[in-house]
Amino acid sequence: MTRKIIIDTDPGQDDAVAILLALASPEDVEVLGITAVAGNVPLPLTEKNARIVCELAGKPDTRVFAGCDAPLARKLVTAEHVHGKTGLDGPQLADPTMPLQPQHAVDFIIETVRSHPEKTITLCPLGPLTNVATALQRAPDIAPRLQEIVLMGGAYFEVGNITPAAEFNIFVDPEAADIVFRAGVPLVVMPLDVTHKALTTAPHVQGFRDMGTEPGRMVAEWTDFFERFDKEKYGSAGAPLHDPCVIAYLIRPELFQGRHINVEIELTGTYTTGMTVADWWRVSGRAPNAMFMGDIDAEGFFGLLTERIARL
Ligand code: RIB
Ligand code: CA
Repeated sequence: MTRKIIIDTDPGQDDAVAILLALASPEDVEVLGITAVAGNVPLPLTEKNARIVCELAGKPDTRVFAGCDAPLARKLVTAEHVHGKTGLDGPQLADPTMPLQPQHAVDFIIETVRSHPEKTITLCPLGPLTNVATALQRAPDIAPRLQEIVLMGGAYFEVGNITPAAEFNIFVDPEAADIVFRAGVPLVVMPLDVTHKALTTAPHVQGFRDMGTEPGRMVAEWTDFFERFDKEKYGSAGAPLHDPCVIAYLIRPELFQGRHINVEIELTGTYTTGMTVADWWRVSGRAPNAMFMGDIDAEGFFGLLTERIARL
């Protein structure tokens, strides 16, 4: 059954690979639109990067919308130190020629959910949750209409990647994350606990390069670029492909294992703001609100990713 999805994103090399995977899998996901949010780099760059990726996938008719340019209640924190100044550093990229849609991303999300049958739309946030939270605040009626929210964000055993306690997407806009985690929408969370097990090792990167296609070459160069941050910090064997885990879940959910548990967002911690307080051991008595993933079949994940990117 093809899922109708909206990808909310802050490209970012790993967002770009997630978008390519989605656009390469029309039998599994129908991308109704891509909504850009400020995150890895400011909004003018994330919306431009989203259009670059759609053109790279050979899908210039994909509708791309610009959304919120700053978190709900805090100053924007970006991650050029990881993704480079453009957000898609690595290869040289031409400016996009496909248009940006005039409608605001939040209005697109609300309108799309209201105009489709109940429980037929899945939101796939890959960046800070500002757009999604704003849509839920402005139109609470869309919460019961959504099929699911499948997002990349948070961490428990893996703890933080931007502060000792917080993962970047949640840290940038914790108030937005709190709104999403409390909205009562079925939630699937891909935390660092899982994405740090989806590392692009050298053979995987070579596999992308060996495709002999422009998308394959781009994926190889993007992962070569953004793995340096994780290698330096974690000594890991490659770049963690965070965001593609969200799309892979839609296509092959059996690649992932997790627990349906309570997850709260810390908003007032001196050192822990933006932390996803995941009750993995179910000690809090608080009601479960998220399927929080803990493990991935990494080889199966890369097999799927390679097979699909090769289609483009
Ligand atoms: O912490 C990893 C997340 O932050 C990924 O979505 C990456 O693209 C950045 O947005
Ligand atoms: Ca992202």
